[in-house]
Amino acid sequence: MQSVKEEIKRTADIVQVIGEYVQLKKAGKNYMGLCPFHAEKSPSFTVSPDRQIFHCFGCKKGGDIFAFWMAYHGTSFPEAVRDLAERYNIPIQDKYSSIQEQQQIRIRDGLLKINDEAARCFEEALHQASACDPVVKYLEKRGLSNEIISEFRLGYAPESWERLTRRLKARGFDMSAAVQAGLIIPKKGEGHYDRFRGRLMFPIFNLRGQVIGFGGRVLNDALPKYLNTPETPVFHKGEFPYGLHASYQAIREKGTAVIVEGYMDLLSLRQYGLNEVVATLGTALTPHHIRKIKGYAKEAVVVFDSDEAGTSAALRSLPLFLNEGLPAKAAVLPRGHDPDTFVREKGLNGFLSMLDTAVPIFQFFLDQKVKQAPLGIEAKVEALKEILPVLSQVRNRVQRSLYAARLAERIGIKEKLVLSELQKAGQRSSQQDLNRAFAEDAARSVRQAHIGDVQVLNLLVHHPGAVSDLRDADCMSLLTDSATCKIVKKIFEIYDREGGLSPERLEERLESDELRIRFREALMAQSIYSEQEVPQAVQEIEIKARQSRLMNAIEAARGNPQALNQVLLELKALEARRHSSPGLLP
Ligand code: UTP
Ligand code: MN
Repeated sequence: MQSVKEEIKRTADIVQVIGEYVQLKKAGKNYMGLCPFHAEKSPSFTVSPDRQIFHCFGCKKGGDIFAFWMAYHGTSFPEAVRDLAERYNIPIQDKYSSIQEQQQIRIRDGLLKINDEAARCFEEALHQASACDPVVKYLEKRGLSNEIISEFRLGYAPESWERLTRRLKARGFDMSAAVQAGLIIPKKGEGHYDRFRGRLMFPIFNLRGQVIGFGGRVLNDALPKYLNTPETPVFHKGEFPYGLHASYQAIREKGTAVIVEGYMDLLSLRQYGLNEVVATLGTALTPHHIRKIKGYAKEAVVVFDSDEAGTSAALRSLPLFLNEGLPAKAAVLPRGHDPDTFVREKGLNGFLSMLDTAVPIFQFFLDQKVKQAPLGIEAKVEALKEILPVLSQVRNRVQRSLYAARLAERIGIKEKLVLSELQKAGQRSSQQDLNRAFAEDAARSVRQAHIGDVQVLNLLVHHPGAVSDLRDADCMSLLTDSATCKIVKKIFEIYDREGGLSPERLEERLESDELRIRFREALMAQSIYSEQEVPQAVQEIEIKARQSRLMNAIEAARGNPQALNQVLLELKALEARRHSSPGLLP
């Protein structure tokens, strides 16, 4: 495992791998982007090509390419190694991992295999269905092309209680795993029966195109219209936008993601040639959806139905988009249409012109909130109370003042009043920012008071060649921060035992998250000293360390004038040496 891991690290480039899932921009020697692991509006997610690590200064998640893979795809370490090895065609022999991990992998792999088998079974049933079969008639009615049907692996679960159960059993699949996959259900007595019967089947894919679950639609007006896979170890509702595995490239090329609700909406749009589309599958938009989408899109257009439910979904999605920093627009369909029926009636161009009428989602919010003007005084106050906090979250200043003007006009009050109230609402949030800034500043000055810690760690991390000089200079005695102490100690230990040191390798050998975070931040920081300044920095550290030893000696020499004299002389000599060279240390 270790050697495979090393080979992957040599072959794979972390910027390229992460860049597939997160939009990265070069910033100095590093790359920055919006963190896929927490809500943020401005980038603090950093990837270092030199160190081949990532670190988010916001949520502190970080590590190497494997740490990213595990966190982003929700895999265990051995799975991450396997996935990346597969990608870079690196053969794996040993599969060392803990028993617990092995079991998890077995379970997830097993579920994916069963899902794939089920998808095949449904696909075959669809192929075999005769022209007069209800599913064939139904598909004709809905007008899906054969290309789309096979690309998205649509299938058929005929009206049978045991078709899939029998097939899985015959092919040696573990029945309890098939139950766990949500495909079959145990009978009261003995045996199992199929969950999906008499339905058109839509497999749901992860980013890698593996089948993680299913939705099955009735072929008539029976209820429920769609039956879905329940929660399983590989399928979590609201986590993953449907269709992203097929759409992500188009989304990145266009910069826009069109978000719709249903399977059929997505498939029809794709059939008509709109590829940059994903679907939420009927659930409200979640932060998980948006974080995945913003890895590819610069902007989202959410297509809502014009009914009550659609409008309220649009309103609820606004704070999510603001929180995640993904600009979004709302497009509203004419009453009675969904994207599927609309594109079939008006064609791609019709749909595109409808998208052109999309308004920024805040404006949509405003329009909805103050529809029934003229408002009474009470209603005006209420509307302001509701809208201002949201408006103060709009980051673009020009946009914010345009909205303020619109709001004033809509509600029928003076713009000046809106602006001053907005300022107050803004101040409340900027007061919070200010408090945070003060706290950070205080923390920084504490760090600076113990400046030895920062500099020593920075030197060790960026100039590993100076490790032994720094140890001889007794730099440890200058450290006051316990985390830094532990890291430096570990560095020396490894250096002693192994004679060399690669800073990139050190992280995994540190004992706690606190140490790993501190260490990564030192790695991501700029080097304080240039290569030429290193010897002088080391010398100054040595002088400072001796100084502090002598100060302690003064204490010890109290009551012994001769010894005290000796110490003071040494201290003086040291002072002279310290002032003879221009200082690097403050
Ligand atoms: P809709 O009710 O808008 O259906 O639900 P639809 O997508 O237009 O379906 P068709 O055109 O009648 O076939 C939107 C989405 O909500 C989920 C499905 O993912 C559906 O595509 N849904 C809906 C369910 O999961 N269960 C249901 O019972 C209904
Ligand atoms: Mn529909």
